[in-house]
Amino acid sequence: MATPCEHHHGAGTSASEQNKEFFNKEAAHYDTKHEKTINKLIEEIRAKLDFIGVDWVEDDEDTEGNGEKTNEGAQEKTVRLLDYACGTGVVSRALAPYTTQCVGIDLSENMATAYNARAENQGLTHSEMHAYQGNLCDPEDPNPQAFASPEFSNFDVAAVGLGFHHFDDPALAAKRLAGRLKTGGVLVILDFFSHDKPDPSHPATNTITHHGFSEEQVRRIFEDAGVGKDFAMGDVGAVFHFSREDGSEVRRKLFIARGTKA
Ligand SMILES: C[S@@+](CC[C@H](N)C(=O)[O-])C[C@H]1O[C@@H](n2cnc3c(N)ncnc32)[C@H](O)[C@@H]1O
Repeated sequence: MATPCEHHHGAGTSASEQNKEFFNKEAAHYDTKHEKTINKLIEEIRAKLDFIGVDWVEDDEDTEGNGEKTNEGAQEKTVRLLDYACGTGVVSRALAPYTTQCVGIDLSENMATAYNARAENQGLTHSEMHAYQGNLCDPEDPNPQAFASPEFSNFDVAAVGLGFHHFDDPALAAKRLAGRLKTGGVLVILDFFSHDKPDPSHPATNTITHHGFSEEQVRRIFEDAGVGKDFAMGDVGAVFHFSREDGSEVRRKLFIARGTKA
């Protein structure tokens, strides 16, 4: 089975350049190519709502029976999600019923476009679900002008689904995302547990910066980013099978980690 992370890299020097080039090409067929895996991931994320521990919007209470959230009353509760490295919006789709706004950001403009096309097709408004091209992890640019408005801060939850192992500096990413959370907000990372390095000839080698993560590493990243309160890391039921080019299979275990901004 092909997975969202089984991919070929393009030319370029940094992981960011290679990821951007690769995922720009992937965007158009990402959802169909990885449909089974994506559906499973959405299920797994929803099974972890309590573990994540955000004060979610109750899906049934905030809808009018037609699946649409009511928007009456200025005091209505809001739960805002930042879906970083959002791709076509898997994490947003999983959490949309329990949030009031999903804001996606992805390095790849074609991924952001695919995310938006899907949101529009589902009849969601710009303020309910929208993605932007961008990079919050540029060491040279701690406060990108494009993300300076209030829409991009004070989130209740910031999540990265299967993006951490692509980042040049996951610890910096965690810090930048923590900075966009409100106090009491939750950072969520979904990624692979440590695994063997792929064969150097493996097509994914140059786009992947980390061969999974240990619990120690992830806890440290959360603590250093100021989101170590009530840190927890658990298994996600899905175990991914990667088909190598030679036909052999590799099993990868996924984790989900959460921590609160103190
Ligand atoms: C395997 S995909 C996962 C997408 C989505 N979160 C999901 O779960 O399906 C990894 C995504 O990370 C994005 N990405 C890689 N490096 C990034 C960075 N530094 N900043 C933002 N997005 C990045 C890629 O463009 C790609 O869309």
